Amino acid sequence: MARLTVGTTQVLTGETIIPGDKSISHRSIMLGSIARGKTVIKHFLPSDDCLHTMQCFRQLGITIEYTPEQVVVHGRGLLGLTESENVLDVGNSGTTIRLISGILSGQPFSSILNGDESIRRRPMQRVTKPLQQMGARITGRQAANFAPLAIYGGDLQAITYETPVASAQIKSGILLAGLYAPGWTEVREPAQSRNHTELMLTGFQVPVEQGNGWVRVKGQQELQACPINVPGDISSAAFLLVAASIVPDGQLLLKNVGLNPSRTGIIEVLNAMGARIQIENIRTSAGEQFGDISVESRPLQGVSIGGDLIPRLIDEIPILAVAAACARGVTEIRDAAELKVKESNRIATVVAEFSKLGVDIVELPDGLRINGQNALHGVVCESHGDHRIALSLAIAGLVAKGETVINDAECVAVSFPDFHQVLRKLGGEVVLS
Ligand code: S3P
Repeated sequence: MARLTVGTTQVLTGETIIPGDKSISHRSIMLGSIARGKTVIKHFLPSDDCLHTMQCFRQLGITIEYTPEQVVVHGRGLLGLTESENVLDVGNSGTTIRLISGILSGQPFSSILNGDESIRRRPMQRVTKPLQQMGARITGRQAANFAPLAIYGGDLQAITYETPVASAQIKSGILLAGLYAPGWTEVREPAQSRNHTELMLTGFQVPVEQGNGWVRVKGQQELQACPINVPGDISSAAFLLVAASIVPDGQLLLKNVGLNPSRTGIIEVLNAMGARIQIENIRTSAGEQFGDISVESRPLQGVSIGGDLIPRLIDEIPILAVAAACARGVTEIRDAAELKVKESNRIATVVAEFSKLGVDIVELPDGLRINGQNALHGVVCESHGDHRIALSLAIAGLVAKGETVINDAECVAVSFPDFHQVLRKLGGEVVLS
């Protein structure tokens, strides 16, 4: 069992290139596999989650070359995948299972999907139900709500689907199935979720149309391979943005960070809390914006957030809770019940573990309330197998008095495999053992 040991840190300085975006890395393998031609991917994130996606597509007959410099996917066209002899293992990755379900729904063969303990607890009906409506035959425990899932793909028909939850995984699963149905498949969502699938499909020359709250894709069009330059993951940058804001002497430059507006909620909220964040060198590649972010430590104040902002920072709520714990006054996070069905129940796990460190925090039915500026003290705490909980606890440990130990820390490799080296290089007292 790996553990992270974190000591009180006074100074964080320097610059670092943020590792590749997890959502975009997954999608680049998936779309590259069903495109015609060679997709060359730069700055791919070689994390556990993305490597599971890569392995699934290799099992589906795709040749994928992987070197530290680039990934080359030898796409075989919309109907070029072949049946896997064995179960497709998605590991811990909700993105893999929900998006690949859409692609497999369009295939004229059978597939079985499984993942780890956490994946087998996460709700799948949100995507299997619309895919069944499109004509896929999908079975799984409790009416196809829990993995393992068996998918018998085939002739699909286009649908217009109104999803009750703003979720890029649901939206993307349906749009990817829509690639196999004649006509336009449309998804309507209550608030904008991340739009990486739509942007990348456009780059692969698939007709995509969108408006306020809806997006649709035209099916049965061959995707054309295109080069992909993956921006740094703002969700990984968020740990360092908060770290530099809360240590006594923080000054970091985070380079090559994705700034897609459907992901930048964390920057807006940290700014509202009084953080000192500046963005420079903004550029765009294949519709994805990215730039360099500088951040310096500043006193923070509490904030109230909810509504449409939540999908734009859903993965950053655990680390936002660390900022809130260091801020003056109360922070309230509402409309975030989705946190209960992430890699762990993040409302429960944040409350349980942050309380051990001395944070004044209570669980709300759809979020969290944190009364900031209680003194934090180092303690032994648990990741619950959830990468974002482990990473958030590590950042909290930088400002806690004494040593913080995070057990079960191998899960950081799900999204940020080099975390401890990166943080150490910038001055963080952290050891992985
Ligand atoms: C993701 C979408 C989000 C996010 C997850 C990655 C994606 O999930 O929490 O980490 O890559 O599409 P939901 O779509 O369930 O909100």
